[in-house]
Amino acid sequence: MKKIIIAIDGYSACGKSTTAKVVATLLNYAYIDSGAMYRAVTLYFLDHYVDITNPKSVAKALANINIQFHLNPKNKENETFLNGLNVEKDIREMRVAEKVSEVSAIKDVRVAMVAQQQKLGKSKGVVMDGRDIGTVVFPSAELKIFMTADFDIRAERRQKELLEKGELIELDVVKENLAKRDQIDTSRKESPLLKDKEAVEIDTTHVTFDEQVEQIIHLAQNAMITT
Ligand code: DC
Repeated sequence: MKKIIIAIDGYSACGKSTTAKVVATLLNYAYIDSGAMYRAVTLYFLDHYVDITNPKSVAKALANINIQFHLNPKNKENETFLNGLNVEKDIREMRVAEKVSEVSAIKDVRVAMVAQQQKLGKSKGVVMDGRDIGTVVFPSAELKIFMTADFDIRAERRQKELLEKGELIELDVVKENLAKRDQIDTSRKESPLLKDKEAVEIDTTHVTFDEQVEQIIHLAQNAMITT
């Protein structure tokens, strides 16, 4: 069957990554978490005290950043490496979440990341999730999904996810961070989060995880036949 690109966009914490990962495994496709790339850039900027208001400092830092994904044979997860170091855990920390929307709104950061994402999807057979995958990175993706969920549900899911990674964050703090990121992600000048006209919207508030995966697999199989 023809290999396609599946673009999954949507707000923070509505289950994009978990869904995309399972869909990719079921289809034997590669999964690419584009948010992890923006998080890795943010981690570098934080650790190297990069002044994000200075375009020269940003350009210099970007030239020193190399992001790769490597499959961990133990947990079968594609993990993020920044300049050769496994940063999968560090990029999920709250200090990164607090800064990532600001960093990902910078044009030069986006240009660099989009170019890498397009390279990663060159041979198709890819599920990529993010905010601008169907609109900017792969505007001709054969299948575009836009995921949404109720704000309170998203906050609870994100809090649980952080707890599983060892960070206990109050729900109000998680909500504040999500609201701020929603605001920046949707209103920024460069590639704001928006639903592409071809995207199929899936509201995950009331459907089970298995149902949403099933729906995407069904849409993907149709797209493989019809495109
Ligand atoms: O999916 P995530 O929450 O890990 O993404 C982290 C941030 O990265 C998010 O607040 C916005 C940004 N992002 C983006 O601007 N474009 C993408 N394609 C993916 C993520």
